[in-house]
Amino acid sequence: MTRFDGKVAFITGAASGIGLATVARLGREGAKVYASDINAELLARETARLSGEGLDIHTRVLDVTDETDCRAAVEECLAKFGRLDILCNVAGMVLTKNFLDVSAEEWDWVMTVNTRSVFVLCQAAMPHLLETSGNIVNISSAAGLQGLPYNSAYCASKGAVLLLSKSLAVEFASRGVRVNAVCPGAVDTPLVKNIQIPEGADMALYGRMFPLTGYYAQPEEIAGAVAYLASDEAKFVTGSALVIDGGQTAV
Ligand SMILES: NC(=O)c1ccc[n+]([C@@H]2O[C@H](COP(=O)([O-])OP(=O)(O)OC[C@H]3O[C@@H](n4cnc5c(N)ncnc54)[C@H](O)[C@@H]3O)[C@@H](O)[C@H]2O)c1
Repeated sequence: MTRFDGKVAFITGAASGIGLATVARLGREGAKVYASDINAELLARETARLSGEGLDIHTRVLDVTDETDCRAAVEECLAKFGRLDILCNVAGMVLTKNFLDVSAEEWDWVMTVNTRSVFVLCQAAMPHLLETSGNIVNISSAAGLQGLPYNSAYCASKGAVLLLSKSLAVEFASRGVRVNAVCPGAVDTPLVKNIQIPEGADMALYGRMFPLTGYYAQPEEIAGAVAYLASDEAKFVTGSALVIDGGQTAV
């Protein structure tokens, strides 16, 4: 027996980084995985590699900013697999800019991709999770716990994901659904590699964004934490913020 035998997991942001590593981890531990991402080509390529290992993966191109399609995807997952046990909201984006240069449109976009999508998918999944005593793992960030310079919209979006998770944990604890958040620090993924440091940035302030360990985590390390929270080993864990940040927020 593996930890997720007979379980079905819905994962967003599944084509890359932490989401892809989570697909691999839960799939290798027996879950049937409904893997979604906006990047159709990358999703097809990366999940084909995992399906080749024998993992049971159904792919779905999904833009998490499309509420109607998010709700349709949850229903499709139910139609395909017959149940839903685990929702992992991983899809996200970062905006690194001087605060004075952030437009209201950019602010709304970050909040829509990172936060509104989590609200929509949690709401769509909840009736099904109530049936299976399932759980939700949302990817927040160290940036949801501490103020990082040049990341006003990102910090706000991830802080909101964390408190949304805690609010749902409280509301649904007695009904058997657990909700947790993971707060990674710097993880070696394309999201981080593509960050452009704003012109004139104060590097002393910017340095707060780096782990004390001197190296970044690998996405598999975050996926391991997601798997723990999603598993029955964490049955007493709800409303938690699991920080995996190489000490970044300890100072
Ligand atoms: N990498 C880090 O250091 C780090 C730290 C803390 C939190 N996070 C969070 O982890 C999550 C995953 O990021 P990652 O580092 O693995 O990055 P990544 O760029 O490797 O993966 C993000 C995935 O999300 C998908 N995505 C983006 N917008 C989408 C949309 N509108 N609809 C559906 N899919 C969309 C992308 O196509 C991509 O496959 C994000 O929420 C990010 O904020 C990352």
